Amino acid sequence: MDRLEKIVLVFSAGLLGIFFLALLAAARLQAIDVPPCLPPEVKPFSAGRVDTLPDGTRQLFYVARMWRFEPEIVEVPVGKPVDIFLSAGDVTHGFYLSWTNTNLMAIPGAVNAYTVKIEKPGIYPIICHEYCGSAHQNMVAYILAK
Ligand code: CUA
Repeated sequence: MDRLEKIVLVFSAGLLGIFFLALLAAARLQAIDVPPCLPPEVKPFSAGRVDTLPDGTRQLFYVARMWRFEPEIVEVPVGKPVDIFLSAGDVTHGFYLSWTNTNLMAIPGAVNAYTVKIEKPGIYPIICHEYCGSAHQNMVAYILAK
């Protein structure tokens, strides 16, 4: 192996290391993490509802069905963590909470979860991003952050 070959190999390995560190830094800065395990008390559910825990945490239980989310309009406090639990009543749907990094799949028989903190007051549309039938494009719900 000649000298130039060694330099190129070391440079390439260093570059890969830099890319890997940049990936870790970006994930850390944007608070991207693997999905959490569900607490054992969360069981599959078939109706949407909103709960408030004793410490004030809002828990939203969404059910996606052709072609709506249940509950359709929910009010949440600004700057407080909101637990979102999501399931589906018929086929697979998507769940994207606009202007946040909340992006889940609604899968029949399964519960997916994410905790989001909304920092600015406003109206946040929830959009289905998985094609689910002829009225897929109309499937929307809203979170009002106040
Ligand atoms: Cu539900 Cu597309």
